[in-house]
Amino acid sequence: MATTARLTLDPAFRIGPVEPRLFGSFVEHMGRCVYTGVFEPGHPLADADGLRTDVLELTRELGVTLVRYPGGNFVSNYRWEDGVGPAEERPARLDLAWRSLEGNGFGLNEFMAWAAKAGVEPMMALNLGTRGVAEALELVEYTNYPGGTRLSDLRRSHGVDKPHDVRLWCLGNELDGPWQMGHKTAAEYGRLAAETARALKRFDGGLSLVACGSSNSGMPTFGAWEAEVLEATYEMVDYISLHAYYDPSDGDADSFLASGADMEHMIRSITATADHVGAKLRSKKRIRLSFDEWNVWYQSRFSGESSLDWEERPRLIEDTYDVTDAVVVGSLLITLLRNTDRVGVACQAQLANVIAPIRTEPGGPAWRQSIFHPFALTARHARGQVLRVEPECEVIPTARYGEAPAIWATATHDEVTGELVLFVVNRDRNAPCALELTLPEGLRPVEHLELTDDDLSAVNSADVPDRVVPRPGDGPRLEGRRASLNLSPVSWNIVRFAPLSPQE
Ligand code: AHR
Repeated sequence: MATTARLTLDPAFRIGPVEPRLFGSFVEHMGRCVYTGVFEPGHPLADADGLRTDVLELTRELGVTLVRYPGGNFVSNYRWEDGVGPAEERPARLDLAWRSLEGNGFGLNEFMAWAAKAGVEPMMALNLGTRGVAEALELVEYTNYPGGTRLSDLRRSHGVDKPHDVRLWCLGNELDGPWQMGHKTAAEYGRLAAETARALKRFDGGLSLVACGSSNSGMPTFGAWEAEVLEATYEMVDYISLHAYYDPSDGDADSFLASGADMEHMIRSITATADHVGAKLRSKKRIRLSFDEWNVWYQSRFSGESSLDWEERPRLIEDTYDVTDAVVVGSLLITLLRNTDRVGVACQAQLANVIAPIRTEPGGPAWRQSIFHPFALTARHARGQVLRVEPECEVIPTARYGEAPAIWATATHDEVTGELVLFVVNRDRNAPCALELTLPEGLRPVEHLELTDDDLSAVNSADVPDRVVPRPGDGPRLEGRRASLNLSPVSWNIVRFAPLSPQE
């Protein structure tokens, strides 16, 4: 039997403007994200720079606005100098993060060329694991200073005349994690992050800086780490980072489907922590959140870094995503939009092959995984203001997160076009939901697309790339200011309304 739920969409109740940087992604030198992912000289579809044009096209279709680079754990043992200058002179190195061989054929300038072609903003991470303030400053000078100094002229001698002008910089990566090269205590990291931030802001006060938060909410120092790091850096940084991966491997589908509610709890916890530090420091400044790694990751299937053999571009964590995974990814995007007032940056990890919406074969095709679709549709249609949406619905008990609402939703209102868009997930595995909406006057339905399937384990593959795609849903039926639609069990939905034309 169907459950019922109700919600009201009112453009007067706004959370804030849709933050375009919420549709970020992540390219790490890990597995095949770079090599045979975005970069494959010799591939039939590679351009003159060795960039795969099929992956570039899919990146643009995905609607990615920003891409974090070059790691991840990789960055904490990376020498950026190895990846610039004539390709034949670049050294091969050991990447300790993923026990991989790094040939350095792709580096900073190749990434910037790729980002320009993909139409995305670059977000760079600094190595604060094995390196420090001096090397960070040198990288920023090479990257952003126009010319007339040793490092800016070095960049020009590498054929890049104009500075890249990267505005967003991460002060390291996951330095609370014992797996991280150069792992630190909060006091050690806070001091280094503050010193690096002070120097970078002296170089250019307009740079936006992200301090590392906890690697995940299960870390023993979660919350305490952020408080101590922010006490050391508060006036010098703009964002604190959050990372979360949701793992379906244990088969507890109800908990997995409630991942969006857990992500919201995490966002609110770190917002409260940051505001507490701000209050203690009597600061009017508000720190924003950079959710710069999030996704579904079958993490418990990964046997750990130490188990890996030294290989070049190994097939690492190339998770194949099914329908339930796509519904969860849709619900995580809903959570990010619901918190657009505090989350200023978000990056799905990663873009190609490594836990990614885009998969490729070396010398072969590129295709969209199931999780591609909710990202692409959300990035394309979330415009204007995010509205406050409070569904009245059933709750579902979960072993991991307690009770979670069955309906998870957000909506946007574009003041320019008048378009109103609802993004909604039915997490219930056993029942469809009859959803009733109360809307402003003067709208007409445009479309209801639903991502679900009778077989929730269905996946896309090189042979059947469009097995899982969004399809027309059952609704909405509109009468005056009331609309109704049916949401299938375990479904992600987008429902669009536009203003009536004068003739209507
Ligand atoms: O995205 C994969 C890895 O997950 C990143 O390198 C690291 O930052 C995180 O632990």
